[in-house]
Formats: sequence, structure tokens, C-alpha cells
Amino acid sequence: PRPKEMTQMLDVSSLVDADGGLIERSIYNDERIYKQEMARIFARSWLFLAHRSQFKKPGDFFTTYMGEDPIIVTMDKKKNIRAYLNSCRHRGVRVCRADAGSTKMFTCTYHGWAYNLDGELQTIPNQQAYPDDWNPKDWGLVEVPNVQEYKGLIFGNWDADAMSLSDSLGDDMKYYLDAFIDRDPEGTEVLGGVMKWTLDGNWKLAAEQFATDWYHVNMSHASALMVLSPTGKGPKPEIASTPGRQFTSEHGHGAGFPTHPKSRFDAQTVHEYYDYDFLRERLGDDRVEGPMTTGHATIFPSFSYLPVNGSIRIWHPKGPNKMEVWAWVLVDKSMPEDVKNAQRLYNLRTFGPSGIFEADDGENWSEIQAISEGFITNNTSLNFQMGIGNEHEDGTYPGTTSELYSDAAGRGFYRQWTKLMNTPAWHETKTRPAADKEEN
Ligand code: FES
Ligand code: FE
Repeated sequence: PRPKEMTQMLDVSSLVDADGGLIERSIYNDERIYKQEMARIFARSWLFLAHRSQFKKPGDFFTTYMGEDPIIVTMDKKKNIRAYLNSCRHRGVRVCRADAGSTKMFTCTYHGWAYNLDGELQTIPNQQAYPDDWNPKDWGLVEVPNVQEYKGLIFGNWDADAMSLSDSLGDDMKYYLDAFIDRDPEGTEVLGGVMKWTLDGNWKLAAEQFATDWYHVNMSHASALMVLSPTGKGPKPEIASTPGRQFTSEHGHGAGFPTHPKSRFDAQTVHEYYDYDFLRERLGDDRVEGPMTTGHATIFPSFSYLPVNGSIRIWHPKGPNKMEVWAWVLVDKSMPEDVKNAQRLYNLRTFGPSGIFEADDGENWSEIQAISEGFITNNTSLNFQMGIGNEHEDGTYPGTTSELYSDAAGRGFYRQWTKLMNTPAWHETKTRPAADKEEN
């Protein structure tokens, strides 16, 4: 897929001063910026596709999006995970309309072109009507050229020559991520299906908050924290006032977490299930007392997670003013059923679509978006200056970290965003894109 004609790209430097912590609001609602994000962020970044546990046998599939491009993720006959553009090469309709399932063939419902698990066009009705030298091999599904996995998390990238997923995460991000997905030697699995809901608000508002914003917790979630409070008088001290760290990656990822020797899981059943001595041995004291539990994180650009709630989610962009949240409950494979269920219920209560925390966050993002068309509003910059100058290597937590209350990871997120937005992507610089190579 190579754009026939690229529209004029904008230099976004005047809209984002990442080092100075100033952001212009048009990056959240300008249609041109949004189109450029599709071309220069989503068409070249590692995007979360699905979890390994969603595929058990060849033909199992799951449909999702990369940016706004519809994608089929499936397991082929050799048990490799493959991803294809979910659009018929004939007249373009989706060849798979189900959310998930199992199949031998993706058959288009418009005229009946049928594609196998390798994405090849296997049969078409009335093929004799095409010229003799017409070859169905030239009309297979467009394949995502780069699919890689990290401990069960499967990501795709349209750039065949992209830096590997592992390098793009970096050892530092993996340290934090492992505190969530590597507690169990057996690994993790997702429970049930995907929870999906739409919100008014640009996708970055959510991605940025999960990277950097511990600051809102006490204010935005005051009533929710009151409900969970053991005394009924306010949040647990380890939530309200504990110190903590915030990590910012040179690739735009971010994570924040309180540090507390008594860090623990809020769901009682889950807390009692864990053998903390084993976890300390496996992950180290620093991780158990920090990023393992009450934290938040974003893997640039649009994948976020919450370790204590077992929540992994994608912020799918749906135009500049809308996002669709897709959230899964992720649990350790070895957990007994009742513990998995306790984690699932805790997840729903707190960060499900109507969870007591989730609803507060969505309300804030929609509020920001609702007023963003005002002319003066749109010309008044936003502040990301908390903690400027206190980023450093602290000798305990890997990579660059700052105090927990900080916008460091937000600045890091927008530094990466600006860099990609201002740099031509593979489809602008190569004469022939990888995904087309075999066809001609
Ligand atoms: Fe798919 Fe015609 S659009 S077969
Ligand atoms: Fe929140």
C-alpha cells in the first residue's frame, strides 16, 4: 500500500514544545494533524494487535484496527500469527465482519472472492470471465509485513524495516512491563472477550494520561477512592501520599507507580493468592514494591495497561474527536478459576466501561474535547511543566525517571510524537513498499 499522492505534511514543531512543557490544543482536533498521525505515527509504529491466548488452533481469528485500518489477525496452518488488511482486493469491503471466531477461509460477502489463511486469493466465482493472463496470486490480501510478540503480547507494524519490537520497547520499558506480565512462569492469558466503548475525545488524551498522569488521581477519583477506603474517610495512605517514580522512555513510552513496602493487590482474593516471597525472588524487591501493583503505563502510541487491575487496552483513534476503547482483562495463567474471577470482577468494578475510576477519566477527556473548537480556547496552550528538570537515572529504577507527580512521561510522549510527525515514514521515502514487493 503506497499512497499515490501524499498531502502536504505539516511541521508540528510550533505546536509542541516538549522540553518546555507547552502543547497547543489543535493537535487534538485538527483534521490535518489527524491524517498526518495516520500516515506518520500509526503506519510506522508497533501497534498492539491481540494476545497470544486468543489463538489456539489454525484458523482462529480476531479482527481489530491499526489506526483506522481494519485488520484480521489469524493463526495460519503452521501456527504462525499473521495479520492482513481486512479489505477485499476486489471492491474493498471487509472480508471478515465477525469480531472473532474460527474459519478456513475469509470469503467476501459482496461477490465471493475467498482468501485462505495465508491471505492468498484461493477461489473466485466466474474466473473465466477475467483475461487469460489474469493471476489470482496478484490479488491476495495485503499483509502486515511485520508481526512480533513480546511475552504473549502481539504487535504489528506496517514498516517492514522498523526497529524490532523488543528494541522499541527497550530493556527499561520491559523491566516495568514484566512486573505485570511475567509474574507467572506460565505467562498470562486474556479472560473472555474484549470490552469496547466509545468516548468523545482525541486518542492522545487517554494515551498521554496513562503514560504520565498520577496527578489527577486524588482529585478526579476522590469519590471512588472514598468508596474503596478502609476507613471511609479517604484513600489509603499508600495511594494518597506515598512517594513513587515515573519512567519516561526515549521511545515515548511512560509508566508511573507509587513505591511502598506494603504494595499489594486491592482485590482481597488476588492479594491472598500471591506468594510475595516468590514474587520478590522472581522480580526483585524494587519491582514488587513499585511497578508490580498500583501503576499505570502507556506503550507508545496507543497501548496502555494497569497492572493491579489486570487491564490492557488500546485507544483506537476514530477521527480527531473520538476514540474507541478496547479493553481486556489479563490474568496469570496459573491462577485458579476463583482468583481469575475475582480479578475480573475487580477489573469491571474499577476500570470496566462503567467502572468507578474509568468513568471519571472518560469524563475529563470528553470535557477537554467538548470546548476545543473555541477560537481563543484553541489558541491557549496547555501546561506539561510539572517536574521539569527532575528527570534523572535514580540507580534503582531503570531508565530515566522522575518523581511520581510529574509530567516527564507526557513530555517524553509528545517528544516522540513530534519526532515521528516531522519525519517522513517508509511509504514516503521508498519507491516500493515491502507489502507490495511480491506482486510486481
Ligand atoms: Fe469482495 Fe467483490 S468486493 S468480492
Ligand atoms: Fe484515572
